[in-house]
Amino acid sequence: MDMEQDTHHKKVAFVTGATSGLGLAIAKSLANAGYTVYGAGRRQAPSDVPANFTYVQTDVTSDESVRKSADYVFSREDHIDLLVCAAGSGISGAIEDIPVDQAESQLDVNFFGVVRAVQSFLPALRQQRRGKIIIIGSIAGRTGMPFQAYYSASKFALEGFVESLRYEVRAFNIEACIVEPGDFKTGFTGARQKIVPDKSAYRDTFEKVIGVQEHDETHGVDPMVAGEKIVQLVGSRRLPARITIGPLFERFAVWVRRIIPDGWFEAFYRIYYKL
Ligand SMILES: NC(=O)c1ccc[n+]([C@@H]2O[C@H](COP(=O)([O-])OP(=O)(O)OC[C@H]3O[C@@H](n4cnc5c(N)ncnc54)[C@H](OP(=O)(O)O)[C@@H]3O)[C@@H](O)[C@H]2O)c1
Repeated sequence: MDMEQDTHHKKVAFVTGATSGLGLAIAKSLANAGYTVYGAGRRQAPSDVPANFTYVQTDVTSDESVRKSADYVFSREDHIDLLVCAAGSGISGAIEDIPVDQAESQLDVNFFGVVRAVQSFLPALRQQRRGKIIIIGSIAGRTGMPFQAYYSASKFALEGFVESLRYEVRAFNIEACIVEPGDFKTGFTGARQKIVPDKSAYRDTFEKVIGVQEHDETHGVDPMVAGEKIVQLVGSRRLPARITIGPLFERFAVWVRRIIPDGWFEAFYRIYYKL
């Protein structure tokens, strides 16, 4: 419902990953649209956030930290309208070169971080019998990216998670949607962990591919565009299961991926990344 129309009700949102990039842009856009926003992250949020943005220090890899943040919100608010899970990070390297504990840590942030937030807020959403959940996935969750296997795996996992979630919470009038961004210019590229041992058999190919990927990211869309899109999305009557946002060419590629044989899409990616 449009914020102006819904005058009796203060809208409250909790946004993870709100200290940088997409989460910060979403938090700012929601605050500008009138939401009372609780923005979570490990680092402080920048100082230029609107007055109705409250920073909540949170590490999504810790059950206790996420639960405490949810408790903090409910110590100040009697309801929650919206949960946005945008916290995430990237590990890149060859499948063979990345130790399992590092692969697990990727899943811990990007997948279990979402699980922790959803589990912490669902009881309240269920009791109030309404609310919306937005999960930030990725185009890399629709198509495996070379040398980002564990990142892609974490985002593919979220696709299934959101589909299952939608069935379970529908009876409680809770909606969920996975938003799949293409390339946006954020802190993600700088924060990415690159694992490439000196003797890696993949070094040259890895460097070529990651060069293309990082070029695309650093020439990506302004994250505020995503923020505005999310405000529009949560104001709509029904949340779709998924939407793709970002550069037109990338949104088109996701659409094409659905209708052409896998082999054709692979050939396109091989040409694009010179593999
Ligand atoms: N940028 C893109 O092109 C792109 C494309 C597709 C999908 N995405 C997705 O968009 C989301 C946001 O990424 P971004 O591009 O905005 O990158 P970013 O600028 O690096 O922001 C990442 C955010 O995640 C938070 N975060 C990371 N680890 C965390 C942890 N353990 N606990 C709590 N918060 C944590 C960071 O906060 P702290 O460091 O303060 O903890 C930061 O606020 C991610 O899920 C990413 O996968 C981005």
